[in-house]
Amino acid sequence: MQDKSNNKVARGEFATRLGVIAATVGSAVGLGNIWGFPYTAHENGGGAFLIVYLVCVFLIGIPVICAEFVLGRGTHKNVLGAFRQLCRYKTLHYIGYISILAAVLIVSFYSVVAGWTFEYTIEAVSGAMTSGSGGDYQEYFHEFSTSAWKPILWIVIFIGVNFFIVSRSIQKGIEKISNIMMPLLFVILFVMVVNSFFLDGFNQGINFMFSCDFSKITPTVVIKAMGQAFFSLSLGLSCLLIYSSYFTDEENLTRTAAIIAVLDTLVAILSGIIIFSALATYKAENVGGPGLVFCVLPDIFGNMPFGYVWASLFFLLLLFASITSSISMLEIPIAFIHEEFKVSRQVAAMIMSVVAIAGAVFCSLSFGPLRDATIFGKTIFDIFNFLAECVFLPLGGIIFSIVVGWVLEKHFVYGQLTNNGTLRTPRFILKTIVFLMRYVSPVLIAMVFLYGLGLFDF
Ligand code: PHE
Repeated sequence: MQDKSNNKVARGEFATRLGVIAATVGSAVGLGNIWGFPYTAHENGGGAFLIVYLVCVFLIGIPVICAEFVLGRGTHKNVLGAFRQLCRYKTLHYIGYISILAAVLIVSFYSVVAGWTFEYTIEAVSGAMTSGSGGDYQEYFHEFSTSAWKPILWIVIFIGVNFFIVSRSIQKGIEKISNIMMPLLFVILFVMVVNSFFLDGFNQGINFMFSCDFSKITPTVVIKAMGQAFFSLSLGLSCLLIYSSYFTDEENLTRTAAIIAVLDTLVAILSGIIIFSALATYKAENVGGPGLVFCVLPDIFGNMPFGYVWASLFFLLLLFASITSSISMLEIPIAFIHEEFKVSRQVAAMIMSVVAIAGAVFCSLSFGPLRDATIFGKTIFDIFNFLAECVFLPLGGIIFSIVVGWVLEKHFVYGQLTNNGTLRTPRFILKTIVFLMRYVSPVLIAMVFLYGLGLFDF
């Protein structure tokens, strides 16, 4: 099964370029863009934050995406197999296990929020959501998220949908669903931006988003922008590594990396416009975190003309974004189990779904019955979130860029980036990417890492 000649056939690959873009952009576009970016940008100076964010996408995003692509497409293997094939140093193989553990942690807490989103989508579509007022939404959300069984039911449904997708082959599962959900996501986003244009607060929202006050750029804002770019682009976890292992050898890696970076940033900016205009129009406060999406926005939609439509579209958008991200997280351990232990994709997907549900149930209960089970004052949800986002993701990003920038042979790396010299990508672009990979990204990511651990402050 695993010999080189029929390796690709046995593993499956993306059938079309649209599939490649839809799946990789689908992994990147998630809760981090639609809710995380507007909130973080709002807190950290709007336009000024956006500029720093764009610089980070260029300095860290594109090089690390390329590093993951070189490892994945260069081997056509799961994360562990990739390191085994490329790195002579045995200890480096353990990096693969870090990615797998990180994927399990991240899918656990992500599924809790995605489960809430699922419940809100159904509420919105059934018309039950937009009939309340201000405090009702807060009360409802509090009651719902702290209850024991209801969020768990939604977790099981959410992961069940994921299982349905990832247990199929790459083309019939991940590619097909991304090809449907991603175009729909962009249509919804576009329709909602057009609606924002007609809101009274549109100009104020745009001003906030694009007017730059450079005095607001502090070192902390820079670090936050780097962290946000990192999470938003799905870096460091090996989602892009595993997806690229299903690319054909003709896929242009640098161009695909640039498309992901541009589309992911576009979604973040458009979500910012939608949310800032809505907040400005209804003079609502940005409470941040889950409160923004699950309390403030439903209230705003309730006051908008055709609020039912906007609430339904918004939560559908969020749901599509979370599904296309969570399937990429699950694919990491599934490919590992499927290829390393030679079991079928269905069995691997079943094992991972059960593990993800177990992890998510603990995270969910930490809002209610298990809220007092804390370590260093952090609940289980916070610990999972902290370990994944502040420890494993940056660690993965540093390792990927160092391995590709320093450990692998140069002709292999350039061979992958140019499809063995058949692409006409200008030399200076390739050199810049490799330079950033070697010298810039690891240092910048290390700063995010140390800041996240609280070991580095200003
Ligand atoms: N990029 C996703 C988002 O913005 C989150 C994610 C992180 C997905 C890491 C996969 C890997 O929500």
